[in-house]
Amino acid sequence: DIARTPASPDGNPEMADAPVQTPAPPAEIFRKDYKPFAWRMPNTFLDFQLGLDETLVTATLEVERNPVAEVSRTIRLNGDGLELVSLHCDGADCEGHTMDGDDLVISLSGDSHTLTIVTRLAPSANSQLMGLYASNGMLCTQCEAEGFRRITFFPDRPDVLSTYTVRMSGPKALFPILLSNGNRTDSGEEGENHWAEWHDPWPKPSYLFALVAGDLVARVDSFTTMSGRKVDLAVWVRDEDLPRTEHAMESLKRAMTWDEETFGREYDLDCFNIVAVSDFNMGAMENKGLNVFNTKYVLADPETATDGDYDGIEGVIGHEYFHNWSGNRITCRDWFQLSLKEGFTVLRDQLFSQDMGSAPVKRIEDVRVLRSVQFPEDSGPLAHPIRPDSFREISNFYTATVYNKGAEVIRMMRTMAGPERFRKGTDLYFERHDGEAATCEDFVSAIEDGAGLDLKQFRLWYSQAGTPRIKLDSERSGDKLELTFRQEVPPTPGQDTKQPMVIPLKTALFDRGGGEPAKESLVVLDSAETKVTIEDAPENAVLSLNRGFSAPVRIERDIAREDLAFLAMHDDDPFARYEAMQDLVVGHLVEAAGGTQGDNSRTEAEDAIVQALGAILTDDRLDDLMRGELMLLPSVTYLMEQLLIADPALIHAEREALKAKLGASLGDSFKALHERAAAVPFAMDAAAKGARKVKSLALAYCAAADPVRASQMADEQYDRADNMTDRQGALMALCGIDSPERTARLLDFYERYKGNPLVIDKWFAIQASSLHPQVVEHVKALADHPDFTLKNPNRVRSLYMAFAGNPHGFHAASGEGYRMIADLILALDPLNAQTAARFVPSLGRWRRIEPKRAGMMQAELQRIADAPKLSRDTYEQVTRSLG
Ligand code: ARG
Ligand code: ZN
Repeated sequence: DIARTPASPDGNPEMADAPVQTPAPPAEIFRKDYKPFAWRMPNTFLDFQLGLDETLVTATLEVERNPVAEVSRTIRLNGDGLELVSLHCDGADCEGHTMDGDDLVISLSGDSHTLTIVTRLAPSANSQLMGLYASNGMLCTQCEAEGFRRITFFPDRPDVLSTYTVRMSGPKALFPILLSNGNRTDSGEEGENHWAEWHDPWPKPSYLFALVAGDLVARVDSFTTMSGRKVDLAVWVRDEDLPRTEHAMESLKRAMTWDEETFGREYDLDCFNIVAVSDFNMGAMENKGLNVFNTKYVLADPETATDGDYDGIEGVIGHEYFHNWSGNRITCRDWFQLSLKEGFTVLRDQLFSQDMGSAPVKRIEDVRVLRSVQFPEDSGPLAHPIRPDSFREISNFYTATVYNKGAEVIRMMRTMAGPERFRKGTDLYFERHDGEAATCEDFVSAIEDGAGLDLKQFRLWYSQAGTPRIKLDSERSGDKLELTFRQEVPPTPGQDTKQPMVIPLKTALFDRGGGEPAKESLVVLDSAETKVTIEDAPENAVLSLNRGFSAPVRIERDIAREDLAFLAMHDDDPFARYEAMQDLVVGHLVEAAGGTQGDNSRTEAEDAIVQALGAILTDDRLDDLMRGELMLLPSVTYLMEQLLIADPALIHAEREALKAKLGASLGDSFKALHERAAAVPFAMDAAAKGARKVKSLALAYCAAADPVRASQMADEQYDRADNMTDRQGALMALCGIDSPERTARLLDFYERYKGNPLVIDKWFAIQASSLHPQVVEHVKALADHPDFTLKNPNRVRSLYMAFAGNPHGFHAASGEGYRMIADLILALDPLNAQTAARFVPSLGRWRRIEPKRAGMMQAELQRIADAPKLSRDTYEQVTRSLG
């Protein structure tokens, strides 16, 4: 792997040789500069002579002038650290070619040519895990967004579509299985070697290319599509993992059926392959007909995977499969349009998971992720619109904003149109743009035309960053209730002033005095101030607002604690019920941590929370999955978001104090709940999953109040566990308690699962996210554990992402937590820039943290910025965070 050299981060060849002191910053690329490519690439032939240490690639590229682009006498083929072995044009030497940085620029005089390019790769030296790399003795690829240019010289941009034919050959003993996109058209043997040829009939951009070669076995199955075509399905894994593939395969078949029924989308090849690899930067990748997955999102059995893991697998399998239409059949014109495929596909996977399990619980989980990851992004130095205007490194824009807020924006269109009209909109989108590289604008227009909506002003959601804030004032006159909504979109980097957005809010009015059940209506805000009058509002009216989280906004309103408690117990919208409970807790903790709360109001607030939670623990109309949601306290990250300047230690302490208070006041209820849940035998249905969820939550509350007693409960839960959900829940509780049981159980867990990397990842993560007072020392020691390595992204995340998300460790008053993350970024950056850069945002929050810690965080960012060599990825994130 040839890392990007900082002397020429923008690939300028003159710079590379000059003895420069300060490297030029990598170039900023702008959406407004988009130009169609001057050439078309109708057919691409790739020949791979495979080897782990050395792979030879012969690319035969047909090029012809693009009649709708500006005429050019050269063609620019992107490269990234490639070794060029030979280059021919129409079978002869090229008329002229130059290197521009890592790109190859070739002079072309005619209207169509054939280029033959040979490159030499070193897969086992590729630690960036982009392009062709070795993982566990197998070869695989990751090309999105710009990895194909690490395989061969090519116009590596999503609007250049080509039909691919791939031939690969290699030692049969090492690589018995040879896979690529599309269908296998031929194969054969040559002595020790064998070869296979694959042809993908669907033109695609280079980022969807994939190749896999290795010693793999498959779980096979088949699916008959709605028009009666049989599709061969396979999930490829290492031999020992085969027993853990059933859930992935069942999820795939459910996803295929669901997409036919819900969006009318049918699969379009004769086979669909999924491959699990253990070294992977992200969750998974939707390469045409050959999805490559992180093992984390494929492998599961009850002994080694939690209920959360099972749900994650179903969601990601769905997500990648759905990309076949929203991403592959219709792809993106340029990377600024990333949310076109990601936002839409996240919405599709969310709706799929809602339909497969508990819809309200799934919705609550999705909102929780949005608010704890995307809201902080939107209010920090890295804020960007779901369709960014510029970037230096596109890998930095695979964000919660592009993915999750992108999904929320499309969900709002669906809410305004209703599901049937929305479906007419998506039908029109698929029909209009099939086979094209489209834009977000194309999507919005299609929904507008197909669903019959006016989305003129709504489009601001694509261009304005920041989470809108809505202030509600209500005034009563006689029977009328007058509501005034004021909206404001806060300034974000590069966007000082904002225009009012279209904000659909589902509302309902409850009568606390009994009376009519509430009817839901949709209020659509579209100006800085919107007034709504409700006639005949009951005396004790309580307004339930933003039900189902119909808009990704923050709501500020004065609402009486009694009203919140009422909604927490009686709202018929499960999300609104959850929200009322959260608001009740947030209100208290923010006041308590802000030091603005008197002793009396502390007691009152705590009592109200105790009472509401007490009712939730025993409410037999609730199923346990939903009960578990209502039992969750808001995260420290979310609480910190509520304050302009936050002291993480104070918030954390107050949150723990409340947990202990609840654990003590409701101790008997928690123990009873734990006991009831523990009696439910293992099964994968909602009732048993719910029981496991409330069981470990009850345990956590007990641990906060009475660690000695809870240690025994946890010990017992650990010993009796016949599944990972229970065992992990018990170990997490134990891990936060300083006791001999803790050490014994951690050792037991390690010994039990030491052959299984995904479970050992949990072992690292549980310790790194623990409440134990010595967590910083523990993480330092774990970094020296023989099983720790910077080479495997899952392992790095399991130790350090867990730690960076642990307020009690990361925000340690000494600043050690910050130093550890900065050290990690510096050590990881040369090996795996993409993964290293993902740790920067945690330090980038400094402006919203109390001054002492803020200073230390900023100093660590500066120390990274001052490093002599930085990847483009980390450079961009660090400079924006300091900026
Ligand atoms: N398209 C993939 C997905 O969301 C993500 C791959 C991104 N990979 C990367 N290296 N940036 O399903
Ligand atoms: Zn995706």
